[in-house]
Amino acid sequence: MAKNALSVTDERTGARYEIPIEGGAIRATDLRQIKTGPDDVGLKAYDPALANTASCKSAIGFVDGEAGILRYRGYPIEELAEKSDYLETAYLIVKGELPDEHHFAMWRHNITAHSMVHENIKKFMDGFRYDAHPMGMLVGTVGALSTFYPDAKNVLDLESRRLQTRRLIGKMPTLAAFAYRRSRGLPYVYPDNELSYTGNFLSMLFKMTELRYTPNPALERAADVLFILQAEHEQNCSTNAVRGVASARTDPYSAVAAGVAALYGPLHGGANEAVIRMLEEIGTVARIPEYLTGCKSGVRRLMGFGHRIYRNYDPRARIIKDLAHEVFEVTGKNPLIDIAIELERQALDDDYFVSRKLFPNLDFYSGLIYQAMDLPLTMFPVLFAIARTAGWMAHWAELVRDPEQKIMRPRQIYVGEGPRAYVPIARRPEPVMREDAVSRTI
Ligand code: CMC
Repeated sequence: MAKNALSVTDERTGARYEIPIEGGAIRATDLRQIKTGPDDVGLKAYDPALANTASCKSAIGFVDGEAGILRYRGYPIEELAEKSDYLETAYLIVKGELPDEHHFAMWRHNITAHSMVHENIKKFMDGFRYDAHPMGMLVGTVGALSTFYPDAKNVLDLESRRLQTRRLIGKMPTLAAFAYRRSRGLPYVYPDNELSYTGNFLSMLFKMTELRYTPNPALERAADVLFILQAEHEQNCSTNAVRGVASARTDPYSAVAAGVAALYGPLHGGANEAVIRMLEEIGTVARIPEYLTGCKSGVRRLMGFGHRIYRNYDPRARIIKDLAHEVFEVTGKNPLIDIAIELERQALDDDYFVSRKLFPNLDFYSGLIYQAMDLPLTMFPVLFAIARTAGWMAHWAELVRDPEQKIMRPRQIYVGEGPRAYVPIARRPEPVMREDAVSRTI
């Protein structure tokens, strides 16, 4: 039987090595033994953007990008979107199994019991400029929670981890809704724990003078399905940010603030906002070919298209596309959907996108739903952050319990100057800046 190992010959020395393969991977540290001599620190793997590096073992989410498959803890995303709700899915992601009725009732109670935030949070919110982006407000206020809960530093304590997880999943919708109300100049609405997780969130966003807000069941369900779809996606940029910060044993509020900051970027969670701006810029179906030409020449990217892992249709995009039509039956059609559908059709008929395996990702259609629900564009990534909190907390807990994990500290290949002597300023010639991309950092 063939050995589960990689045989390597170092052509520099003629030496042969046998490197074990486990789970389809070699250990990068096994490369260190490959040296040209005693002064050599050993071979490293160079992997900018960690495109082919497994940084951990994880049992939470599974993505098969070639086949377009996503599962949370083994359950297909399609089945969870159809049959589960966000709170149950969050339980599954965080704890590893679907709850029975008793455990689910406890979980629901524990999350809703933590939906209130300290009154001082309102003062933080008031400190932001009137036009502050709610995602920026969320980065700040989530990070600030660590100052309210110093016990969260006990990251190795199971009970503390459980408590911080309930607190964060419970409070994220409140922080997000407060950011929205602040940007609208509206009074903050306190949580209504009689409503569902998503229904309460809609209440905190939209309640006006009525005594109790009653969410439209179709919109409540649609928002809940979007939350399920966005809850977890293995080692994406924001989860990696959470893991990176948490690897220093930092408290989870600070680590999740880093995750929210990563999600803010237009290449990640900010893409759903960017998609709507793009569709508005295109304006009419007639302008699509011209717009696509710009995408193909590298002037711009087709937002909501492409994915580092999916080389097939993102399964979440397919669900969201169907969901959009259900939402429009309640809200009326978002006119941008016609442009989106035609844009997708033309892109998938174009060799540029086909040959690069660029398909719609979950952000392509999600913004259209949020917009039809009257949410401003700037809130789209905020909704994503609420949903992804379950995934971040699961990865945080997995990381701190993993005996193989240490403080995250990648290597580099130094390409700068060799050693040189300091010259006093009066004797220095005019600096000549090197034009190569590496040394011109600003
Ligand atoms: N439009 C046009 N060309 C693209 C696009 C796009 N959206 N995405 C990738 N390409 C091209 C890219 O120019 C490159 O072409 P070439 O080989 O000729 O240089 C090739 O496809 C490979 O691209 P890449 O940049 O190496 O791919 P990546 O894995 O680093 O990027 C991505 C993944 C998601 C950042 C990228 O596809 C992108 O910028 N998409 C638009 C933003 C977006 O929709 N982001 C949401 C991602 S899904 C949800 C989430 O993560 O939050």
